Amino acid sequence: MPGFAKFARVAGEVRRDVLAARDRDPAARAATTVEIVATWPGIHALLAYRVAHAFQGAGVPLLPRVISMFTRAVTGIEIHPAAHIGEGLFIDHGAGVVIGETADIGNDVTLYQGVTLGGTGFATGKRHPTVQDNVTIGSGAKLLGPITIGHGAKIGANSVVITDVPPNSTVVGNPGHPVRVDGRRVEGPDADWIHLPDPIAEAIQALSSRIGALERMVAELSDAEPKPPAEVTPLRSMRGTNPAGG
Ligand SMILES: CC(C)(COP(=O)(O)OP(=O)(O)OC[C@H]1O[C@@H](n2cnc3c(N)ncnc32)[C@H](O)[C@@H]1OP(=O)(O)O)[C@@H](O)C(=O)NCCC(=O)NCCS
Repeated sequence: MPGFAKFARVAGEVRRDVLAARDRDPAARAATTVEIVATWPGIHALLAYRVAHAFQGAGVPLLPRVISMFTRAVTGIEIHPAAHIGEGLFIDHGAGVVIGETADIGNDVTLYQGVTLGGTGFATGKRHPTVQDNVTIGSGAKLLGPITIGHGAKIGANSVVITDVPPNSTVVGNPGHPVRVDGRRVEGPDADWIHLPDPIAEAIQALSSRIGALERMVAELSDAEPKPPAEVTPLRSMRGTNPAGG
């Protein structure tokens, strides 16, 4: 069973969590500590997680998962007891937050409702995101796979992020892409994520027009009806390299 030292550490972490709520939730500024501890679902979920994580670390069977299950029922926040969470995490509103087993969260991170730190499939081993210090993740954002979210990054509401995020950047959209890095707008040809060039379609288009020219020549020589030119539908690759270097 976890000893006194462990529970003293857990109490210290919970104190930091309460301070984080007071610092980062405008609605908490006028609330007393008792009010925050009694009525903030993010605080309840973290308190329960920190106890469950201590039991999990001590090898206690079943109990950590039971604590996690009841916490989810009460707060709508599901945190796997084996996840690693630093100090000063603030989960605003709570409902719909999922933090997976191998997720790793640094210090002073803020999550809004509906955030998922999940896996991409049925892979085993490290399969959930690593979130470094001072990151803010907007409501409804899905961060999937063993990616790293660099310190100080901001993830826009409803983004879907499946590649690494550079430190001090702002990432939005689906697929999530950087729109600011170190406070500067991301410029250059790769900044337009809607109208990406499609080199494969362009190559096929060139081949198609050459085949069309050959077909017309053959038709002229053989007095046959020329065939209509083949159509090429442009494709946009979703697997391009991340211009942010992630
Ligand atoms: C991303 C966010 C953190 C803003 O970060 P920022 O660094 O201040 O960036 P800006 O507001 O300057 O926006 C940068 C660009 O991203 C766009 N953008 C911002 N948030 C976006 C989002 N969620 N989805 C898509 N695009 C978004 C902006 O329109 C802007 O576009 P532009 O470069 O064409 O002008 C913020 O918009 C956000 O989504 N916060 C989450 C807040 C939240 O979940 N609140 C819930 C409270 S209950």
